Amino acid sequence: MSESTFAETIAKDQRVEPRDWMPDGYRQTLIRQIAQHAHSEIIGMQPEGDWITRAPTLRRKAILLAKVQDEAGHGLYLYSAAETLGADRGDLTRRLIEGRQKYSSIFNYPTLSFADVGVIGWLVDGAAICNQVPLCRSSYGPYARAMIRICKEESFHQRQGYELLMTMMGGTPAQRDMVQDAVNRWWWPSLMMFGPPDGDSPNSARSMAWKIKRHSNDELRQRFVDMTVPQAAALGVTLPDPELRWNESRGSHDFGQPDWAELKQVISGDGPMNRQRIARRKQADSDGAWVREAAAAHAAKHRSGS
Ligand code: 3HC
Repeated sequence: MSESTFAETIAKDQRVEPRDWMPDGYRQTLIRQIAQHAHSEIIGMQPEGDWITRAPTLRRKAILLAKVQDEAGHGLYLYSAAETLGADRGDLTRRLIEGRQKYSSIFNYPTLSFADVGVIGWLVDGAAICNQVPLCRSSYGPYARAMIRICKEESFHQRQGYELLMTMMGGTPAQRDMVQDAVNRWWWPSLMMFGPPDGDSPNSARSMAWKIKRHSNDELRQRFVDMTVPQAAALGVTLPDPELRWNESRGSHDFGQPDWAELKQVISGDGPMNRQRIARRKQADSDGAWVREAAAAHAAKHRSGS
């Protein structure tokens, strides 16, 4: 594929594949976004993982185990997609641990009660679905195909969270208060998952020109708010935004602005749980070194035929 064929492929909404010619900027943008997406999935195992041993029933424990395992799988698909671009997953892990690559801000908040597990499924995985469904049409083949499978599993994640909350809302006043408290703590950080406002999004223009990103940060944020408001009403919780109201003329909801200074602070590594999340990832990486060494030694033995 040459430069003109690449441009034609993008213009025709067709897929660029690993062996095709691509501009270096396209390759680097994809490695950046896919790696950070993969890091988010792996770090995202921690907040809910903390509740696996404390789930209130065997059923809830089994569901939560399945969800956390799914996130690990999503990370592996995405690291594999990054490797088709020439990235090395060990190097990407180094970059994450050394703070040279990012992961989603949302996973730097603490999970203070079991209601957080439900709210993460409902809001965080719900936001992820809004962001990831369009990525199924991303111009880079391996990324788009990884998204198709990930989105199917995200739907289960969101539904199990919402069902957990429905159960708690049918419980005692204390359980209902736990759900409302969790919604109050996770609502604004969920809106921040979509990134800074479009006017402050240095990567969006190029990512959209290359059809890596199909919609802007604000468009997807709006879509998420419009999807979530009726769900909150059905659940019987209040979303903590006094400016949230239906705007008939726009056909969507007006809502307040997230605290962008907080997003910048969390992204720069200074959020409530950043240090713990990275320390845990670093520990897991060193704990698993022997497995990588053994697998490499086994592969080398087989290659040499000994
Ligand atoms: N958390 C951390 N970093 C963020 C961020 C967030 N919420 N929003 C933006 N950023 C970073 C960007 O990475 C970029 O920094 P960089 O240039 O060093 O990478 C900078 O802030 C400016 O933001 P832009 O809008 O210009 O950057 P992008 O065009 O990359 O948009 C994005 C950011 C919308 C997150 C985009 O990268 C994206 O859509 N990524 C794929 C989806 C994804 O990563 N989702 C994360 C959650 S995964 C998840 O939820 C798992 C589920 O199972 C729960």
